[in-house]
Amino acid sequence: MHYEKLDDYPEGFLWGASSAAYQIEGAAAEDGKGSSIWDVYAHEPGNTYKGTTGDVAVDHYHRLVEDLDLMKRMGLKAYRFSVAWSRVIPTGDGAVNPAGLNFYARLIDGLLERGIQPVPTLYHWDLPEALQEKYEGWESRQCIDAFEKYCRIMFTTFGDRVKYWITINEQNVFTSMGYRWQLHPPKKNDVKTMFVVNHHVNLANARAITLFHKLVPGGLIGPSFGYGPVYPLNSDPANVLASVNADDFNNNWWLDVYCRGEYPYFTLKALQRMGIAPEVSAADDALLRSAKPDFLGVNYYHGGTVAENRLDRPTDSASDKASEADQADKTDATAKTGTTGEKSEKGEKKEFSGIDPYLMQPKEGQAQTPEVPMFQSMANPYVKKSAWGWEIDPVGFRIALRQLFEKYGLPLFVTENGLGAADKVENGEIHDSYRIKYLEDHLLAMKEAVTDGVPVIGYCAWSFTDLLSWLNGYRKRYGFVYVDCNDEQSGTLDRTPKDSFFWYRDIIKTNGGLLGKERA
Ligand code: BG6
Repeated sequence: MHYEKLDDYPEGFLWGASSAAYQIEGAAAEDGKGSSIWDVYAHEPGNTYKGTTGDVAVDHYHRLVEDLDLMKRMGLKAYRFSVAWSRVIPTGDGAVNPAGLNFYARLIDGLLERGIQPVPTLYHWDLPEALQEKYEGWESRQCIDAFEKYCRIMFTTFGDRVKYWITINEQNVFTSMGYRWQLHPPKKNDVKTMFVVNHHVNLANARAITLFHKLVPGGLIGPSFGYGPVYPLNSDPANVLASVNADDFNNNWWLDVYCRGEYPYFTLKALQRMGIAPEVSAADDALLRSAKPDFLGVNYYHGGTVAENRLDRPTDSASDKASEADQADKTDATAKTGTTGEKSEKGEKKEFSGIDPYLMQPKEGQAQTPEVPMFQSMANPYVKKSAWGWEIDPVGFRIALRQLFEKYGLPLFVTENGLGAADKVENGEIHDSYRIKYLEDHLLAMKEAVTDGVPVIGYCAWSFTDLLSWLNGYRKRYGFVYVDCNDEQSGTLDRTPKDSFFWYRDIIKTNGGLLGKERA
């Protein structure tokens, strides 16, 4: 559908920006905070780019007021941040740390005083280390009880002031990175365990939502999912079927549980046949079916393209060529960003560039590859890529919003979208026109989705300030506000608004009215 004129963004649209505790706060061991699995993991040699850690990050913990003032200056209507569970309960399920709660009280009250809606995420990957040690983390159901206890504290403390809540960030990413690709803690390669963990996180999400609805009437809660539409390589029915499989395996596997309370039928069958499906008790089933989110948080970076994965595929097939092109592009992206890879402790070469959790592919001969008979990821020749090899696909954003609303009928809240780039400071200024272009194209695509009729309640760009990328250090920047920090972790941490800061301020001021218009 093409429109002569797009609808305006709705009144009260939540124009925002996002962050996550581990990536910005620092103060990793201050005021009683306990360690998280990321505090430990980042300190093990070879796990992160140049050994970067969140010990100081961008020092948001100590620069809270300065950051809040910058948010107000930008005119933000919403700010999505995450709560470090181990700051609130240092041992994960023991005593509450009043200083930790007080930090979030200052943040939340500071936002409200400035007219900004706080949007806390309860879990953005930084599990308390004590729970990992005591129970093997999410592998145990005790972790679900601990999460519920932590959520209860958050809801009873802040439920009177905070309307919008996110339960879990990108469950699809952290479970696969941690239990399959060995790139996040606890660095395992065990697909069966990955599905167990995933099931436990589903139950934790459902318990949190159920509790929230009891304790915070009038509040709204939902998970944030890393969603990408799946395209078939072409109209070959075998490739179309592969795209149906991939959508089920990469998207429905989580979303059907969140929104319908059940695992998707075909993927569940396939996993059962392989002996790696999670066990769902009658009580689990009842819980999952009864807990419904009020909205769906959507993190959109890009989708993916797939083809049939024929085990006997001839090597010169079109899709193999596309795959080679993809590989070449990734290598090129690595060269462009200057990454040479690092040696891990064991000595094998490890690339930190081009890691894309949405498109990870099993390596040849890698054990336990459930999607092998279902689909294979391919390069999409129609879309450009960022310097890190991530596809740039604003039309895919509109498709994503349409598909999600059509499938699940829930209001959508875009909780992440943005461009990672290596920004340069020129005479004290940061001219990030590429970021403005990326954001503008996506905001226009979202406006088209809104005109199509999709109820979108807000948009939080990733990210407000520059921050620590889990695996890419500080050189891959997303922020509207530049932070003087580097991979040697020796910058001044001074803040400087980039060109995109002023651009987004004007977009917010006009409720999106300036999108696509010439600017003076
Ligand atoms: C999302 C995460 O997956 O992607 C963020 O929720 C993350 O925490 C963002 O920073 C960008 O990823 P990366 O690897 O480019 O920093």
